[in-house]
Amino acid sequence: MSAPAFANPLLESVDRPPPRRVAVIGAGTIGPDIGYYLKSALPEIELVLLDLRQEAIDAALARLRGYADKAVAKGKMKAPDAQAVLAGLAGSTDYAALAGADWVIEAATEDLALKRRIFADVEARVAADAVITSNTSSLPAARLFAQLKHPGRATVTHFFAPAWRNPVVEVIDWPRADRALLAWLRRLFAATGKLPLTTGDAPCFMLDRVFDNWCNEAAHLLAHASAAQVDTVAQAHVHAGPFFVLNLAHGNPIIVETNTLQAAEEGAHYTPATIFGSVERWLTVAPGKRVEVGAAQAAAIDDRLRGVLWSQAVDILDRGIGHSADLDIGCRLALGFKQGPLQSMREAGDAEVTRVLQRFAAERPGMPLPRRALAAYQPSERHVVVDRVDDVVVITLRRPEALNALHDEMTDEILAVIRRHEADAQVAGFVLTGWGSKAFCAGADIGRFPSLLGDAGAAAQYARDCARLLVHLDRCAKPVVAALNGMALGGGFELAMRCHALVAQRHATMQLPEITLGIVPGLGAMVVPYRRWPAAAAVFHGMLARADRLSAAQAHELGIVDDLADTFEALIAKAVARVHALAGRPRPVADAAVALPAWPDGAAAVSGGKRLSAQLVALTGRAVRDAAAARTLADALEVGYRAFGESACTAAAREGIAAFLERRAADFGATG
Ligand code: HXC
Repeated sequence: MSAPAFANPLLESVDRPPPRRVAVIGAGTIGPDIGYYLKSALPEIELVLLDLRQEAIDAALARLRGYADKAVAKGKMKAPDAQAVLAGLAGSTDYAALAGADWVIEAATEDLALKRRIFADVEARVAADAVITSNTSSLPAARLFAQLKHPGRATVTHFFAPAWRNPVVEVIDWPRADRALLAWLRRLFAATGKLPLTTGDAPCFMLDRVFDNWCNEAAHLLAHASAAQVDTVAQAHVHAGPFFVLNLAHGNPIIVETNTLQAAEEGAHYTPATIFGSVERWLTVAPGKRVEVGAAQAAAIDDRLRGVLWSQAVDILDRGIGHSADLDIGCRLALGFKQGPLQSMREAGDAEVTRVLQRFAAERPGMPLPRRALAAYQPSERHVVVDRVDDVVVITLRRPEALNALHDEMTDEILAVIRRHEADAQVAGFVLTGWGSKAFCAGADIGRFPSLLGDAGAAAQYARDCARLLVHLDRCAKPVVAALNGMALGGGFELAMRCHALVAQRHATMQLPEITLGIVPGLGAMVVPYRRWPAAAAVFHGMLARADRLSAAQAHELGIVDDLADTFEALIAKAVARVHALAGRPRPVADAAVALPAWPDGAAAVSGGKRLSAQLVALTGRAVRDAAAARTLADALEVGYRAFGESACTAAAREGIAAFLERRAADFGATG
């Protein structure tokens, strides 16, 4: 497997246009779910579902209508948008419906001979350059497509359940696939909310090797423990234990098939546990529930489960089946692991990993073991991806599960990448952007806040620690340009405003929603905008006191955003040009105190029709005033850190943060 030209697929330029007519073969569960994802992301396409059985098609179409209705009922989609998603959607039992399709996605039963027959039929009916992909979870592309006349247009795109929502898709890089096809698929997926992971063409690819062997190992453990005991112990690592997940998937045949394949190709140690043939439904515990497990027994189960996980992880990397950061994020987002195997290895430490793997090797001879020093398996970055565009380093924030929200590890990684390249004469500067097309960054990770509530000192220190990256940007020797590819919220906007220039796609927006959470934006938003763009002070008052949203066009008019772009390509090109233009011409944030217009009245403050906390509006106003009067930037920033600490001790913060995490509207009526 060769490394993709760019870790952020949106940086790859492709000639092929997006699809216009897509056919999905197989109206089981995953086929229609893939179709729904595509239609919601690209409503203008025609989509046809093919199956041999009309009942399956009817049921699938009804399910998709149900998804759209639910999205409207939950306010996630507007009714006209739902209508557009459902328009141009058809089902057919006749392969003649493939005519005109420029992309055919096969999601039929896992049967090599059947799939090959389907591909022969497809190839006879579609244009020679139509894309053909299979959703197989195990069969290598080299075997599936061996008989195609034009294999370069075919590969495996492996989705995970539920495919309309789960962001992960493995895109299999096999030797005969056209490089342009792989670039097109990766780019299309990244642009439509997915996380494409480039994966080698081994049986079961990357993530199912982990999942299948995890389940198989759990079944081997049944000689020593019950399914409920294994699931209880497994919950230290996954949100739902392996037997619970197998029940959800209605049985075990897939593990039997995939592990039989691995055993045939790679050795008897992969043989599926015999018990899979005798049990249809496991007696186990639901996520969060536990049964009694003795300490020694739990330790033995845990060692075996970590053993198989880490053994698979090193094997996948040693054989070049996947990339390290992709393995970890894939295990978390596609398979429901609480942390990726490489991260759990890092946290366990070399001595513990060695002990567990030695025990595993003794109990399960033949299973793969590390071939290199353990440190060599760790990714250099987990939460950002780094690319070079000419002499500019492009850092992409990649936490699609949280709209690229910042946490400590991510800010540390951004800082480390900048420090690593700052002194490199070959590097002109940096561009910061976000993964996908929805968000640049949704702010600081709100999941971290509950632990700070009620402790002003700890909260202020947290703000100071988060701000280390931003303070570094203030004095960075090379230009750093923010390329806003979508929403820049809270700490995400605070990060962007410390960059030396901002460029934005037209759909990008900027907002400081902290007031709706009952906190203040303590990373510089109460200081920096007033010193950098003093003429827009009244606009910043509205953003801070009412969470007013600023469009990219408005921000451009106000001089906050330096340039606008219609596409991501143009955004990056403009950002790179800005880096070059700024070289040797730093834009420091002014140190001097600034004058301010009057602060809005907090008593009547509302945002989006919802009442805000008058106490927080007043606290924000006071911090803005004190920061404006501070004689140095450092003093002004300190006002912000302290105000964040103070806000974290209010009843409004407790309510606002709890409401976000509980997915409900905050009620500041009682908090003041
Ligand atoms: C953690 C976040 C997050 C954040 C979004 N997510 N923003 N997780 N921290 N800041 C998660 C959601 O919980 C959800 O996870 C997933 O990302 C997708 O988000 P949704 O809400 O489902 O998407 P959507 O309905 O489109 O709404 C998008 C949104 C909303 C409007 C941006 O997510 C939102 O309001 N987010 C919070 C934005 C915010 O308040 N930022 C400022 C933070 S405070 P699940 O698991 O449910 O799918 C700050 C300053 C701190 O930045 C100062 C520190 C000193």
